[in-house]
Amino acid sequence: MKKNIINNINRLKTEKNAVILAHYYQIPEIQELADFVGDSLALAQAAVKIEADIIVFAGVHFMAETAKILNPNKKVLIPDMNAGCSLADSCPADEFELFLKDYKDHIVLTYVNASARVKTLSDIIVTSSNALKIVEQLPENEKIVFAPDRNLGSYINAKTGRNMVLWNGSCHVHDQLSIENVINLKLKNPDFKLIAHPECKSPVLELADFIGSTQALLNYTKTDASQKYIVATEGGIIHQMQKASPQKEFIVVPVDENCNCNDCIYMKMNTLEKIEQVLETESNEIFLDDQIISAAIKPLKRMLEMS
Ligand code: 13P
Ligand code: SF4
Repeated sequence: MKKNIINNINRLKTEKNAVILAHYYQIPEIQELADFVGDSLALAQAAVKIEADIIVFAGVHFMAETAKILNPNKKVLIPDMNAGCSLADSCPADEFELFLKDYKDHIVLTYVNASARVKTLSDIIVTSSNALKIVEQLPENEKIVFAPDRNLGSYINAKTGRNMVLWNGSCHVHDQLSIENVINLKLKNPDFKLIAHPECKSPVLELADFIGSTQALLNYTKTDASQKYIVATEGGIIHQMQKASPQKEFIVVPVDENCNCNDCIYMKMNTLEKIEQVLETESNEIFLDDQIISAAIKPLKRMLEMS
């Protein structure tokens, strides 16, 4: 059955000159099928260069929007229109616009996990791969508003000694990883290193041996000498970690004691069947106003230049 779907998707891809981009939090079958798998930054960089007519974005809505903004002449399809993001939702554009009125002399740095409209209110977009690098390129006395992730923002403040004003948003997947669960895992598995995504809360990050984006975490497990890792991020990344280092052991920090997983419900809305369907019908297309595209592309281009 799965083999039939995969064959059909591959046939449709050729017929329609389409490519599939997938984030590391997708199910393993989608990661294996995709033409390109990456973190938010790599996916944005890949989207710019795509020459195919259709991009099927196996990720969440803001990622598909970003691809459309960066490559507006392509037809961008998303397997499930409801694949949103709790972090992007925690920063409604109207409220953010109002908030910024108090910070007119601040530069606005926005994490890519935000709606296209929020991007239009921003000066530079960042991802977890390049946020530190970009902040470090700004003059030390530059006043900065950072949105929407307060955990990533306070991590950058701590690392750089800056005092960025933080929007109070978070991702439900990372924010719910508790320090108690992490400590319990560390006590039970003292020879495992803790590696964490910077969207986790600061007590979790303080315990971590390494902090980074999904790509950085994956790279670390490939090159680091340790054989065992407790991983504080969404479980989808384990597929690539295990594939690259089959001899190593990985434990994902669970959401609670009865659950071994911490899936992002939005990322996991995508299925092979939905990819097949959108390719067949060319439905779930991302449409954005030209004005939104031309305003949102500026901070995205600045990000790509500074990365
Ligand atoms: P990355 O940029 O690390 O891939 O993160 C994306 C994301 O949604 C994290 O929750
Ligand atoms: Fe958004 Fe969190 Fe899901 Fe990433 S893991 S897409 S930040 S809800």
